[in-house]
Amino acid sequence: MKNFLITGGAGFIGANFVHHLLSHHPDYHVVVFDKMTYAGNLNNLADVSDDPRYTFLRGDICDAPAVEQAIRQHHIDTIVNFAAETHVDRSIEDPNAFIHTDVIGTHVLLEAARKFGLERYHQISTDEVYGHIPHGTSSVETDSVAPRSPYSASKASGDLLVLSYWVTYKLPVTITRGANNIGPYQYPEKVVPLFVTNALEGKPLPVYGDGRQMRDYQWVGDHCQGIDVALHQGQLGEVYNVGTGQEVENLRMVEILLDEVGAPPSLIQHVEDRPGHDRRYSLNVDKLKALGWQPEHDCEAAIRRTVRWYIENEWWWRPIKNGEFRDYYQRMYGNRKVIAVP
Ligand code: NAD
Ligand code: TYD
Repeated sequence: MKNFLITGGAGFIGANFVHHLLSHHPDYHVVVFDKMTYAGNLNNLADVSDDPRYTFLRGDICDAPAVEQAIRQHHIDTIVNFAAETHVDRSIEDPNAFIHTDVIGTHVLLEAARKFGLERYHQISTDEVYGHIPHGTSSVETDSVAPRSPYSASKASGDLLVLSYWVTYKLPVTITRGANNIGPYQYPEKVVPLFVTNALEGKPLPVYGDGRQMRDYQWVGDHCQGIDVALHQGQLGEVYNVGTGQEVENLRMVEILLDEVGAPPSLIQHVEDRPGHDRRYSLNVDKLKALGWQPEHDCEAAIRRTVRWYIENEWWWRPIKNGEFRDYYQRMYGNRKVIAVP
């Protein structure tokens, strides 16, 4: 494992993982293969752009010849697949791209990995594949998938394909299922960067429904370390959950966020809920911990550190919020009904 194809490496977690690999493994080479959708951003990789161990290729994981060419040309032995359409609200608006990239794209990569006899194919997945988790229980890796949004259904489909390639072809695969990531370079459609930047701009924070939904907000660096451990110490054909193992209500996340920004709670605005909104995700992360991994941040520490990064890095998010994002925000929130606190 030495020559990595990091698909979706210009996105949020992929870029953080590229930084992680280059700083923790001096002998590794990294090729980022990214379509550069609205979520891809070369600013996320600016500080590794001169590293001789790093190459950027623009390409679509649904394009088999382009994927094969990248593998051949760069002697790739490992694929880590971050490439995906990732936002639940966009998947509700239009699921098309989700099926293409998250299902068909995954299949194209698996076929390429099989054809070239790669050492490892690692799939980046999500806790959302388990669906809504009732209080008092947490998801373990052997649980059935029960996705409820077009996003999570497309990710679950990808996972099932990956596992089928292990069972059928003995393709050396591993999967990690991460909880909600937060940290540097997250596109501000996701709740934490959206709310921090809105708060900094003095705009309302649109909390869906009652805000009592629960998420496990983990520091992206802890997730990257978890992926590294699963890659190097995980067993082939296995799934590993990655998160803090402790979830918080969205309203608590907002309270911590506003406190760190120093903005007033009056910015909170309850708005019409997301259709099919999963109330709670909860991961049991004992399996990865048994390999020696341990997250360094709980949810509160992750939220506070993330807020500080956005305060210190306006250069990164201001151009995004002033660009295409404005149309998206208008579409998603412009006519959304404000509701009384239920
Ligand atoms: P992101 O939306 O920030 O980035 C996705 C990247 O994939 C972008 O750079 C985009 O240009 C690229 N991409 C999209 N379609 C592509 C295609 N067809 N071919 C090549 N590149 C393409 O996403 P993220 O938050 O960094 O998520 C990365 C992965 O982690 C995804 O697979 C996602 O499902 C998973 N995940 C995300 C979270 C989270 O909280 N963000 C949690 C768990 C798992
Ligand atoms: P999000 O960041 O979209 O991640 P996911 O839905 O994949 O977990 O949302 C996290 C939580 O925040 C989720 O419960 C939905 C909620 N949320 C809001 O309340 N308002 C918003 O504007 C957004 C984008 C999300």
